[in-house]
Parts: sequence; C-alpha cells; structure tokens
Amino acid sequence: MAKRWTADLGYKDVTPERVFLNRRQIMAGIAGVGATGAIAGRAQAQDLQPNSFEDITSYCNYYEFGTGKGDPAQYAHLLTTDPWSIEIDGLVDRPGSYALGDILSQMTIEERIYRFRCVEAWSMVVPWNGFELADLLDMAGVKSEAKYVAFETVYRPEEMPGTRAPVLDWPYVEGLRLDEAMHPLTLMATGIYGKPMPNQNGGPIRLVVPWKYGFKSIKSIVRITLIDTQPPTSWNKANAREYGFYSNVNPNVSHPRWSQASERPLGGGLFASRQPTLMFNGYDEVAPMYEGMDLSKDI
Ligand code: MTE
Repeated sequence: MAKRWTADLGYKDVTPERVFLNRRQIMAGIAGVGATGAIAGRAQAQDLQPNSFEDITSYCNYYEFGTGKGDPAQYAHLLTTDPWSIEIDGLVDRPGSYALGDILSQMTIEERIYRFRCVEAWSMVVPWNGFELADLLDMAGVKSEAKYVAFETVYRPEEMPGTRAPVLDWPYVEGLRLDEAMHPLTLMATGIYGKPMPNQNGGPIRLVVPWKYGFKSIKSIVRITLIDTQPPTSWNKANAREYGFYSNVNPNVSHPRWSQASERPLGGGLFASRQPTLMFNGYDEVAPMYEGMDLSKDI
C-alpha cells in the first residue's frame, strides 16, 4: 500500500525513488493486506484484459483538440507539458503552485488496472500509473470547512485548436465531493502502461474516478480548489439534462438518448458482444458514499 503523505513526514520517510508496482506485486500486496474495499475493487479489475496501448491512445475524448475520437491523437502533441505545475488553492493550509516534479518526488507511483467507461456506452480497461488524489490533498492540507474539490484543465487556445469552437465553455472544469476525492480508488494518473501519460489521454496528469463515467476524469489538470459549495462542471453546464454532477454509473437510469444498461467493450471489433453495465461500474465498495441519495435523480 502507498505510504500516505502527511505534513510531518521526515526526510527518512520519503520514498527515495518512485516505486513502480507491476501486476504481480499488486496481487502479492492484496494477499498481504487482505481484501479491504478499495483493494477488492482493484483485484476485480486485475482479472480484466487491458486494452492495447494503441486502442487507449487513439480513441480519445479531449474536446480541446477536437470532437472526433482521433483528433486528440492527431493534435495533442501541440500542448507543452514541461514544465508543469498545479495551483492548489481555496480551503487548504498550504496553498500554492506545486511543481509536478516536486509532487512526484513525494508520491508512490502504483499501477492500477481500472475498468473505464464512457457515457456513450463504450468501455475500456486501462492500466494506469499514478498516485492517490488523497495523498496530494493531504500534502496541501485540507481545511475542515472544505466539502468539494474543483478541478480545471489548462486552457491555451494557441496550443489547443479545438477551443476555437465554442463546443464547451473553456476551460474544462470538473468537481468531486470531498469524500469521493479522498476515496482510495480515486487516482491522479501520470501514465499508461508504465509510460508517461500521452497528451491525448490527459498528459502530464489527469484524474481517474473508476466508478464514474469518463467525463469526470478531467485531463491536463492545472488547478485544484477546495471549496464548500458544489462546483460547476463542464458537461453539466453544457447539458444539465444529460449530465449530472454525480456521474455515477447507474445502469438503471437511461441517458435521455440511449439506454445505459449495457456497454460495448472497445477493442473487440464492431460486433463484439455487449456486456451488461454494472452498478458503480462494478466498484461496489463506493456504494456507502451514496446511501440515502436517489441516484435516479442525482445523475
Ligand atoms: N478532459 C478535458 N479537459 N477535456 C475533455 O474533453 N473529456 C472527458 C474526460 N476528460 C475531456 C476530459 C471524457 S467525455 C472522457 S470519456 C474521458 O476524458 C476520456 O478519456 P480518454 O480519452 O483517456 O479515454
């Protein structure tokens, strides 16, 4: 398990080099620590066959580079990702600009294979590399008044040809409730298949929330703000009827224009059999966070 970052970590506690866990080591870790909720979800996903690097990096949604699935792979190289820093502000003890290199030197990088599902009813299995968002939030020190986390993608029209069209209200923004953000399944991903995150997939650093639809997984993050009110989100602003704040994978709620009951795994060819979509994308351990909510209304 990753060592949690705390403000009083001494030099001797800091992982001297980034640890890359391969699949076997993760499985060994699971056997060692027992099946806690988060680990169980990961273990389940370990059994899935990941999509190829080629599939994952060529069929993307990143509207800042165009609305076609192939546009990000074609144009995202225009984005400068080095140097990169994330502004962490709002209700935190240590606000400021955090250089990505400094963040990574303090984090334990793991590989996690997650089922990734899009509201358009396709799904992929992706071996992400990254660290828990909770560790980054701990680094900044979340104040007790904070209830939500707002995220913002970089906005550079000169490097992002898709932003010349008013498809979305730029910059792309997303949000999570604080408990969702602190959940151990919520990942800040910095790579795929052990390689640095390709720009089209949100390089150099993006969010991955495996029990939600992909649109929650905001790419190329430059700002994280802790706040006490629910933040706006890009797709909700664009079409509130179709995209709610919660973005939970609830197969019992149809999208206004199509059913959410089944999905098409990518990579199996056009006629690959559809499979039933699982509640919370199969990550049942997140269910307690939504107890008492009506997920047919809070979509
Ligand atoms: N982040 C930004 N900044 N811009 C986007 O258009 N698209 C979202 C999400 N993050 C998007 C974004 C949607 S709709 C999906 S399905 C996922 O990214 C796709 O991630 P992938 O291309 O790595 O599969």
